[in-house]
Amino acid sequence: MHAVGARPNFVKMAPVIDALRDRGAKQMVVHTGQHYDAAMSADMLEDLAFPAPDRFLRVGSGTHGEQTGRILIGFEQVLLELPQVSLVVVGGDVNGTLACALAAAKLGVPVAHVEAGLRSRDWAMPEEINRVLTDRLSALLFTHSPEAEPNLIGEGIEAGRIHAVGNTMIDSLARFAPRAERLAAWEGFGLDRHGYVLVTLHRPSNVDDSGRLSAIGEALCRLAERHPVVFPVHPRTRARLQQGGVGDRLAAAGVMLTAPLPYLGFLSLEAGAGAILTDSGGVQEEASALGVPCFTLRTTTERPVTIDLGTNHLLGDDPATIRQVTTAPPRPCAIPLWDGHAAERIADVIVAA
Ligand code: UD1
Repeated sequence: MHAVGARPNFVKMAPVIDALRDRGAKQMVVHTGQHYDAAMSADMLEDLAFPAPDRFLRVGSGTHGEQTGRILIGFEQVLLELPQVSLVVVGGDVNGTLACALAAAKLGVPVAHVEAGLRSRDWAMPEEINRVLTDRLSALLFTHSPEAEPNLIGEGIEAGRIHAVGNTMIDSLARFAPRAERLAAWEGFGLDRHGYVLVTLHRPSNVDDSGRLSAIGEALCRLAERHPVVFPVHPRTRARLQQGGVGDRLAAAGVMLTAPLPYLGFLSLEAGAGAILTDSGGVQEEASALGVPCFTLRTTTERPVTIDLGTNHLLGDDPATIRQVTTAPPRPCAIPLWDGHAAERIADVIVAA
């Protein structure tokens, strides 16, 4: 049983579901409903040819406690109704990842965690709490980068549970990149290939504080004087931009603000970008796989492999560092096991378990 619910889950789990289907595994999908806007969920699922969920928990938005608690209760109920479930597969680090792992572990159902072992060491990030606790609850830990295994071993997790398989988000990218290239989404914005900066920002640490968001807004206005800037806006960020008029200032400076894009459109904009400015985890990975320069507006990353072997550069805490962002042609990067076949390796381990 796969538990998904937020945008990045769909991208990471689609190839795992496909690979298990190819091996004849009986599967079900539970959608927690954390993301519910069409752009955040239905359109993503359609682009990824994701199977229709068997159950939909409709938990919606709320505080972390509310959201995690509602998923815990709803997912436990599903497991109680279906005692034949032999494995729960969760991905990434969103609230549903932890809630579903906890419900399963308490009922004695083994948990597999896709993207285990990532650590930012920043306990103020809700995702870090979700990652550490989910790994502790998991019987099978699938890692995607070299630093993950020592992170897990250092926390006392037995080596026999850990499987280095690679990155399923890059499996999706490898599958859909040719279609994304053909889509040429940048043309719809009147942009030249590799001649613009793509921006995504949604972390609470960047967008929830109005003073900080205003300073980021000013830096983006300066950036737009040097490069065209396109900014698909996450619903969390959209709400914050409307308060305080930052969105109006960005629009006046020529920043192209759009609704969140579905998977193929966004991947197309990533592939065609000359630089990406982000605070997302997955976007750091996709930029590195595409060879597009990536500037991350955070002080830490749980994905250091994107700095060591990819294109990622940590800007740190000060929004003024956005002035470092500049476009450049893509350069090829090879990260071990980011080869488009991670989900097949996961499915082999699961089928053999
Ligand atoms: C969640 C994940 C984050 C991931 C991100 C990807 C957690 C703790 N965080 O953050 O790790 O990078 O998804 O997008 O699970 N909203 C809508 N429509 C939606 C979904 C959300 O309007 O479909 C709004 C709501 O006002 C909500 C806010 O966005 O309060 C934030 O959504 P939430 O699900 O709490 O977290 P994300 O910021 O999306």
